[in-house]
Amino acid sequence: MSKRIYFFDTTLRDGEQAPGFSMTSDEKFQIAQQLARLGVDVIEAGFAASSPGDFASVQQIAREVRGPVITALARVTKGDIDAAASALQPAARPRIHTVIATSAIHMEKKLRMKPEEVVRRVQEMVAYAAATGMEVEFSAEDATRSDWSFLTQVFTVAAAAGARVLNVPDTVGYTTPTEMFRLFRYLEEHVVSPHPITFSCHNHDDLGLATANTLAAIEAGVTQVEGTINGIGERAGNVALEEIAMALGTRGDVYNYQTGIDTRELYRTSRLIQQITGVAVQPNKAIVGANAFAHESGIHQDGMLKERKTYEIIQPEDVGVPRSALVLGKHSGRAAFRDRLAHLGYQLNDAETDRAFARFKDLADRKKTIMDEDLEAIVGDERQHGAVDPIQLLSFQVFSGSNTLPTATVQVVHNGQAPRQEAASGDGPVDALYQAVDRAISFKGNLLRYQIQAVTGGQDALGEVVVRVESEGRVATGRGASTDVLEASIRAYVAALNKLMTGRGVVMMPDGQDETSWMLRAFGG
Ligand code: KIV
Ligand code: ZN
Repeated sequence: MSKRIYFFDTTLRDGEQAPGFSMTSDEKFQIAQQLARLGVDVIEAGFAASSPGDFASVQQIAREVRGPVITALARVTKGDIDAAASALQPAARPRIHTVIATSAIHMEKKLRMKPEEVVRRVQEMVAYAAATGMEVEFSAEDATRSDWSFLTQVFTVAAAAGARVLNVPDTVGYTTPTEMFRLFRYLEEHVVSPHPITFSCHNHDDLGLATANTLAAIEAGVTQVEGTINGIGERAGNVALEEIAMALGTRGDVYNYQTGIDTRELYRTSRLIQQITGVAVQPNKAIVGANAFAHESGIHQDGMLKERKTYEIIQPEDVGVPRSALVLGKHSGRAAFRDRLAHLGYQLNDAETDRAFARFKDLADRKKTIMDEDLEAIVGDERQHGAVDPIQLLSFQVFSGSNTLPTATVQVVHNGQAPRQEAASGDGPVDALYQAVDRAISFKGNLLRYQIQAVTGGQDALGEVVVRVESEGRVATGRGASTDVLEASIRAYVAALNKLMTGRGVVMMPDGQDETSWMLRAFGG
C-alpha cells in the first residue's frame, strides 16, 4: 500500500493575506465548498483573531463545510487560541494551528524574545490549545533559517505538549531542495514525541523553488503538504497545490503516493479563485494556465495529431479543462440549463436561475457554441446581484476611435428614481463609461483593479471583467461577462457599486491605510 499525502490548503489564509487578494466571507465560503469538492484534506479557513470578519468566515466554514479538517491560525497567545477555538467550535473535525518564529533573526529582531522564552511559550500555548480537545498543529515560522538543534528542541516540546502535526515553513522561500530533504531527514531522526506525529512542509516561492522543495520534502518522508491554489500568497506566493497534485499523479513511477485530490476539479478551482480575486494566472502557468495544453508549433501539432503522448504528459480532461465541445445551444430549455449548472456544482435559487437563463438565451443569440466556462462566467456575474440593487443600468453608448476623445453616455435608474442620463469623457472608453456612471449617481468609485480575460477562444468569445472598487475605505469586487467587452466592463463596475451601496460583499479597509498596507499582518508574539 502506498503512503498517503495529505493536502492542506491555505488559499483562504496565506493566499488571502497577500496584498490585494482580500475576499469577502461569502467568497471564502464558495471557495471552501469548492476545495471540499476538490478533495483537500485540510482547509485553513482564516486567522480568527485578526478581525471580526475573519472570525465569522472561519465560523461559517466550520459550521457548513463537511469533509475536510477545518483549521484556523493563531499566534501562541491565549487570545488568538481562544478566538480560533471558538470560531472552530461548530466544525466536525477542527484543528488549531498555532505559530511562533524560531529563527535567530525573527526571535531577536521581531519577537524580541530569548530562545528560552520562545520554548516556554510553545510549551504553555500548545498545551493550552490541546486542552480544548481539538487537534493541534504547531508551526515554527522561518523554520528553514532556524538552528536545526533548536528547531528539534522546539518541536519536541510542542509534541510533548500535544501537537500532532509539526509544520516546517520555508517562510521566505530560501531553502534549496537538497537542504529541504536533509532538514526533514534530520528532524524525523531527532524530534522525540510521545505519540505519532505528522511532519508537514509549507513552502514559499521566492526563488521559484517551492514545487521542487515540496517534492523533496515528500521524498524525505513528509506526509502533509501546505500550499494554495494558483500559488497565491505573500510576495512570490506559496507552492501551487495543483502542481504537487499533478506531479504526484503524473509521475507515479517516481512518487508512489496516494492523495485524496480529484484532479478533475483542479481547473474549476483555479478559475473560481481567478474570478473571485480578479487576478488571472499567467498563460504559461503549469497545469491551469491558458497555454498549458495549447500546441502552437507545426512540429508539435503534427506530433499531437499522430499520437497525443508525443507532446502531452497530462490530458486536459485529467485536470478538468472542459473539452471544446458544444454544451448547450440556442434551443436548449430551462431544464437542460439547470441540469448543466447542477452538474457544474451550482445550486441557484429561482430568481438567480431566471436571470442566468435570460442571460444564457441572450448569449446563445450572439455566440454559436456555449461552453461550460461560458456558463460559469454568466453565473459568476449573476450571482453577485442582490434581491434589489440600487443601481440598474438601462443602456450605454460609447464613442471612441483614433484622434478622438473617448466619450460615453449611460442611462441608469438609481434608488428607484426616474431614469437619469449622463455623459462623460475619459482616458479611454472604459474610463469614460465609469465616469459617466459616477456622474449619473453622484458617486465616486476609486478603481483599484481592472482585469479582463477571454473566457473561451474564438472571435465570439465571452469577455470577463473583474474590478475592485474602493470608496471611503470599503472595497468591493464586481464581475461582468459579455461578448462585448465594454458591456462586461460596465456590468462589473455597476455590480461593485451596488455592493458598496448595500454593504453586501464589502471588505473594510481600516482608516488611513491603502490596500497593500491594510493586509499586512504581523506574526510577532
Ligand atoms: O509562511 C509561514 O511561515 C506561514 C506560517 C504562519 C505557517 O504562513
Ligand atoms: Zn506561509
